[in-house]
Amino acid sequence: MKIAIGCDHAGVAMKNDILPLLEALDVEWEDFGTKDEESCDYPDFGEKVAEAVSSGSVDRGVLICGTGIGMSIVANKFPDVRAALCSEDYSAKMSRLHNNSNILVLPGRVINLDTAKAIVKSWFETEFEGGRHQKRLDKITSIEKRLNK
Ligand code: RB5
Repeated sequence: MKIAIGCDHAGVAMKNDILPLLEALDVEWEDFGTKDEESCDYPDFGEKVAEAVSSGSVDRGVLICGTGIGMSIVANKFPDVRAALCSEDYSAKMSRLHNNSNILVLPGRVINLDTAKAIVKSWFETEFEGGRHQKRLDKITSIEKRLNK
């Protein structure tokens, strides 16, 4: 699986810490920045990762900012993006099983690294259940199409 990963200055440390775990999970990643702790604007990096997921150039994405809220707002503007902000691994797992989430958003200033690693592991190891959940996702797609007309 190939993913795009991105963050703002509040997420750089956590991003760098989870890259080795991605390798261990056999996930190929492209880092869309930011790459240092100089203050920057999260929409610039959320946009790059969400665009890559929305266009299909990568399979999934990971975004990190301070609370995860800004990145979630940006990512969920993009067609076919289902970004899930997760602070614990149960929600990460459920976001895959039921919502087929394709961007994982982590709150770099809210959770510790061990929790982040547990979330990442669950999220990459869990597959979408389909069935009745697909019908619900189809309804979201219909709403998206109606609003974009
Ligand atoms: C940056 O200070 C902070 O606002 C950002 O990382 C994020 O938490 C926004 O939602």
